Amino acid sequence: MSITIDGPAGAGKSTIAKIIAKVKKLTYIDTGAMYRAVTLKFIQNFVDTKDAQQIEALLADIRIELIGDDIYLNGTNVTEEIRSPEVNQLVSEVAKLSPVRKKMVEFQRTIAAAQNVVMDGRDIGTFVLPDAAYKFFLTASIDERARRRFEEQRRKGFTTSLEDVKSEISNRDRIDTERELAPLIQAEDAILIDTTGLSIEKVVDKILSYIQ
Ligand code: DC
Repeated sequence: MSITIDGPAGAGKSTIAKIIAKVKKLTYIDTGAMYRAVTLKFIQNFVDTKDAQQIEALLADIRIELIGDDIYLNGTNVTEEIRSPEVNQLVSEVAKLSPVRKKMVEFQRTIAAAQNVVMDGRDIGTFVLPDAAYKFFLTASIDERARRRFEEQRRKGFTTSLEDVKSEISNRDRIDTERELAPLIQAEDAILIDTTGLSIEKVVDKILSYIQ
């Protein structure tokens, strides 16, 4: 059985998905973290997002592993590094690239075929796991999403302003929504939950009420 949770940045997907996974004893899979790890590799190797050959070489040499709450890139734990402002800025551009998406989607489908998952992302209900048992689409106002991301970044020690976070996530939303391949959009059969002003517990209860 799979549960998909899609939506824009800062809608609360990963926090909620982790709790649902724990309660329902499913494996939580953060697909955004995968695109972030690929982006980190682009940055580390100075790869040009317009150079097909460089992209192919990078993808041939990439190994991503999810172990518990941690993500490893070619054997190195990059859980913290993938949340940096540099990765935030580039990730939507990297996630637009067809060879990148092809490789990540294959990886995600392989994981979901082997176990029961709660998978969060942008295109999980529409494209990666269209036959999932339960699909949710989480959203919230841009101000609330910016505030949440800002607090999260501050806790992690990154110094950015609320205004910068807001413009970065609206820019990311625009690229994610307008891209040609598997754009961010609510699946027709997904349940929409607007989390603006709702506590984490409320959102979790709402989701559990559908799947119990
Ligand atoms: O959820 P997140 O902010 O960690 O995701 C980072 C970026 O990765 C997001 O801006 C778009 C991309 N992404 C994607 O294209 N498809 C997914 N399934 C998950 C994330």
